[in-house]
Amino acid sequence: MKELQALGYVGVGGDLLDEWRAFGGGLLGMQVVDSAKSRVTLRMDDRKQRFIVDKAQEAGTCVFGWEVADSAALSAIAGRVEAAGVKVTAEPQNVADDRFVAEVISFSDPGGNRVEVFHGPLIADEPFQPGRTISGFRTGAMGLGHAVLVVPDVEAARVFYMDVMGFKLSDYMGELFKAYFFHINGRHHSLAIIQGPEKKIHHLMVELCSLDDVGQGYDLAEQMEDGIGVTLGRHTNDFMTSFYANSPSKFMVEYGWGGREIDPENWVASELHDGPSMWGHERYWLPDDARALALEQRLKAARDGVRQPVQVMDGNFNKMTGSCAWWDGLQSKKG
Ligand SMILES: [Fe+2]
Repeated sequence: MKELQALGYVGVGGDLLDEWRAFGGGLLGMQVVDSAKSRVTLRMDDRKQRFIVDKAQEAGTCVFGWEVADSAALSAIAGRVEAAGVKVTAEPQNVADDRFVAEVISFSDPGGNRVEVFHGPLIADEPFQPGRTISGFRTGAMGLGHAVLVVPDVEAARVFYMDVMGFKLSDYMGELFKAYFFHINGRHHSLAIIQGPEKKIHHLMVELCSLDDVGQGYDLAEQMEDGIGVTLGRHTNDFMTSFYANSPSKFMVEYGWGGREIDPENWVASELHDGPSMWGHERYWLPDDARALALEQRLKAARDGVRQPVQVMDGNFNKMTGSCAWWDGLQSKKG
């Protein structure tokens, strides 16, 4: 059950096309490629399309396109989903063309979210031209980022995504709220589900290649009215430094840098006890009592010395000299 490779594309329903053009291009730095009357499509890298905002799709919904290697992998997943009693639709060629992929199937998850699985994404002839000056998005084998869903029945969703679709558990938490994080590649999580009273999209995450892309985006989001849903902070499980922008569609887009890369073959899942963030990430959308609890959890993480090295890629760091005997001693003790 290793067919799933990455989150390939996301479709957003609704008619806020001008707003998404400004948000996707101007704040996030994606490239607006198709500005038809009925939809806006955006690029993030060499692919023809990663993001679709479509009037024809129900407002407030998202479609998640999960990528597999080929037709055989697509059939294997379709077979398991059908065996689980869920209707699978083999989409016609015009839908595949619309997604800029070779072949696509669709079905619903237990929470009623539309899921698509595809293979054969089309690559653009023209180079990616970001909508604002950014270094670029970290995609490739890790996919476009991650999706986090709120679901009323988190156990039913966990069973479906793990046992039927083949996601692997990264870690989970059950103290302030119940959540499961899943991987399908080196990205710590490509999908997470959180128990909540009603189904909704919590956020999508895209990862930038430079920390300064995130900081400069933060300045832009601060200029917008109600632009920031969660302040700058760092997560305990994927080590992402990020903030969350309020998108036009009322779910958030996490804008991050420096996510860790895991070894998906040898990863051992564990329960998280330090809360979701080691610092920052003030969640403006939470009720006051829950915000106070989250703050106490972060302050405890700080008192306990929860910290992690930054996770860097070639080209976005310089290794410094100039340490001192005290620091060198600490490092050598760590081995
Ligand atoms: Fe996230």
